[in-house]
Amino acid sequence: MTPHDVLKLCVSNLVSYLPSAASLSSVSSVSGLLSSLLSQLPAPSLPSVLLSLLLTLPPSLLLLLRFLLPPPVLPLSLDDPLSSGSHHCVVTGGSSGIGLEIAKALAGRPGVRVVTILARDGGRLESARREVEAAGRAAGRKVGESSSSSPSSSSPSSSSPSSSSPSSSSPSSPPSSAGGLLVNPVSADLCDYPALSAAASAACAAHGAPSLLFNVAGFAKAAPLLAAPMELFRSMSDTNYLGTVAATKAFLPAMLEAGGPRRVLLTSSCAGQIGLHGYSAYSASKFALRGFAEALSLELVGTGAELTVA
Ligand SMILES: NC(=O)c1ccc[n+]([C@@H]2O[C@H](COP(=O)([O-])OP(=O)(O)OC[C@H]3O[C@@H](n4cnc5c(N)ncnc54)[C@H](OP(=O)(O)O)[C@@H]3O)[C@@H](O)[C@H]2O)c1
Repeated sequence: MTPHDVLKLCVSNLVSYLPSAASLSSVSSVSGLLSSLLSQLPAPSLPSVLLSLLLTLPPSLLLLLRFLLPPPVLPLSLDDPLSSGSHHCVVTGGSSGIGLEIAKALAGRPGVRVVTILARDGGRLESARREVEAAGRAAGRKVGESSSSSPSSSSPSSSSPSSSSPSSSSPSSPPSSAGGLLVNPVSADLCDYPALSAAASAACAAHGAPSLLFNVAGFAKAAPLLAAPMELFRSMSDTNYLGTVAATKAFLPAMLEAGGPRRVLLTSSCAGQIGLHGYSAYSASKFALRGFAEALSLELVGTGAELTVA
């Protein structure tokens, strides 16, 4: 039987239920038409009625309850690992946009001791440092002096901040410190792995292994394939994909060595889940992160470190 035959059969079955022209002329409303149609349907058998009730009643009741009852409060939100402790958090791309907002949010958490913000431009890093400190103060944190308490859950070595490599914290603006919160600006390029790796080692030596690494640095530029130069594909892949790999590779050894629960976050995008028109370079660089994360998360099983792609 061809699809055309199946269609013909369906139509003829449907037509056989329709009221005749004579009875149609007596139908004056939609409800009249429906009752006319229903009266011509064969009487339903008891098992089919029971089956219909069984299939439709439970979801209908659940739907009704969903609108009648208040939404449930999930206890998950009560468990905030940053409400206490002495955490060092690193945010790449922390001088602007989403990364800066994450750094400011972290500054308000009482368990966060150091927020390292990493980006290239020293001037923007400096003004971001002031914003993050202000966010800490607004949340009642002490901002300034370097805390004497060594990071309980980190610090692969306890060398002093002054032993940092030149690529860490610009000398003109030493990280302000204090009993509560320290904001540590680090100028480094994700696309220069040797310099990035040295800056990461210095930050870990000075402030302990990060509990949280937020890989946020990245950029987007739309251009249809035929109009996009190869350089756009290279630069977006270098920053969004390889830059994230580089930062993870630079900080992860200290995180694993310190042990305990650690988390690495990778910033993707909607364009990293579905291809968007005009974003072939960007989408590809963000899709790559997903593959990277899936494979790396298998390597991390049993280490205490976990990955999130957001
Ligand atoms: N904004 C959105 O609507 C949106 C939506 C989905 C996903 N995202 C993703 O979220 C992330 C942040 O986006 P955003 O809009 O907040 O960006 P943004 O405001 O332009 O900030 C980008 C940050 O990354 C840093 N950065 C860029 N290239 C770098 C490199 N090679 N090395 C070190 N740091 C570098 C920048 O500082 P320097 O230039 O000084 O280095 C800046 O701090 C990106 O990965 C983006 O793809 C954004």
